[in-house]
Amino acid sequence: MALRVAMASAVAAVFGSQTTAQASGTRIVRLSKVKVGGSHKFQLANGASALLFRTKAGVFAYQTICTHNGGSVEYFAASKLMVCGVHNASFDPLAAGKVVKGPDGSAATTIRALPSVKVKVAGAWIVLG
Ligand code: FES
Repeated sequence: MALRVAMASAVAAVFGSQTTAQASGTRIVRLSKVKVGGSHKFQLANGASALLFRTKAGVFAYQTICTHNGGSVEYFAASKLMVCGVHNASFDPLAAGKVVKGPDGSAATTIRALPSVKVKVAGAWIVLG
């Protein structure tokens, strides 16, 4: 239990907050809590972690489960890439989650893009689409 609380605190420290989204239309986070250029980590009803982004163009999100072998993918703002910690595959969240580099430097075509999660703005909230 203490570990779970510590991990949630660590995630909140990195991403500001974390929420759980259950079904289409479910509120994820207030729009005002995610600045343009920012991101927000949340959890889907099936337990999968996801990360949403807000840009001038709108909001979009991806599951953060690597398409190579299920590793956890984290966003690095400095490189603007989502990178898997297991074999270092990288994905571009600003280009539909496409693969930039495959596992351990292999060709990008060896794995699929990150699965997107439909999200949208509904009033003052970002919700599942
Ligand atoms: S599990 Fe992500 S690169 Fe291998």
